[in-house]
Amino acid sequence: MSRDLSVAIGGLRLSNPIIAASGCFGYGLEYADLVDLSRLGGIAVKGLFLEEREGHPPPRIVETPSGMLNAIGLQGIGVRRFVTEKLPPLRNLGATVLVNICGSSVEEYAEIARILDDAEGVGALELNISCPNIEAGGMMFGCSLQGTHQVVAAVRRVTRLPVIPKLTPNVTDVASFAVAARDAGADGVSLVNTFLAMAIDVETRRPKLSNGMGGLSGPAIRPIAVRMVHQCRQAVDIPIIGMGGIASAGDVLEFMIAGATAVQVGTASFVDPLIWERLIDGVERYLDRHGMRAADLVGSLEFGERDAAWNSSS
Ligand SMILES: Cc1cc2nc3c(=O)[nH]c(=O)nc-3n(C[C@H](O)[C@H](O)[C@H](O)COP(=O)(O)O)c2cc1C
Repeated sequence: MSRDLSVAIGGLRLSNPIIAASGCFGYGLEYADLVDLSRLGGIAVKGLFLEEREGHPPPRIVETPSGMLNAIGLQGIGVRRFVTEKLPPLRNLGATVLVNICGSSVEEYAEIARILDDAEGVGALELNISCPNIEAGGMMFGCSLQGTHQVVAAVRRVTRLPVIPKLTPNVTDVASFAVAARDAGADGVSLVNTFLAMAIDVETRRPKLSNGMGGLSGPAIRPIAVRMVHQCRQAVDIPIIGMGGIASAGDVLEFMIAGATAVQVGTASFVDPLIWERLIDGVERYLDRHGMRAADLVGSLEFGERDAAWNSSS
């Protein structure tokens, strides 16, 4: 018997907990010939500003041990073109769309949210307040509790869509940012964005990325991301979308047991663009084996005596 894979993030119902991560799946349509977009729990589309952006010049991607470093610089077509060119076909293909939005000011986030609130076919707004490789916006808001609160509250005021700020791991106490987001009216939080990082070409003694620094993603960051999801789960009871290095069904389960209601998969889909069925099937088989629904798994982490001692001292 097949188990119930559906989960809910605020008012957004997902048929399964597996979402394509922002920036790693384009606007979804690029993959429509390969992947049945309606099979995915959701698609978080590439981050959008109000206007089109070119992003940084190459090189923008560098391979690292068990991960990759990127500094794309949020290249994108701008929210209005997204609404007219991308949303209608996404809707026709039955995709559940989370729109990842960026801003250089609180007002820009709110303006983009207003435009998307009027559009048909948007499932939720994911607020990118955590991009490590742009100058204005991004981590400027996500590394400040006040900035996080301001952006979430401003967007909350102009939309009834689920609002999901995406938190940066580049802070000491990520859980306090989840609390700030919840207090400002967020329906959930997603984490983690990439870790600020750097790679140097020793022959030229220059940074390998044109931007100097970039964001680290992939399996290398997974245990840190799992820890952060666990900490946020203990601090807030709004839904969490967890991500960072997920490459197998076991990784999905790990994030969900730590407290994620759903997950996103980014870097691993560059290695295997057809990863989705493997992940969904693996989670379904696990749920069958354990006689559970996906929702039962969320935050089901067990602590023995040894673990409880560790947890209280942390
Ligand atoms: C090439 C690339 C582009 C990304 N672009 C965005 C973006 O536009 N908005 C965003 O919120 N996160 C972006 N991210 C971060 C991912 O959505 C995700 O948070 C991060 O990569 C960790 O997940 P992963 O290890 O599965 O890739 C990007 C990541 C990569 C590798």
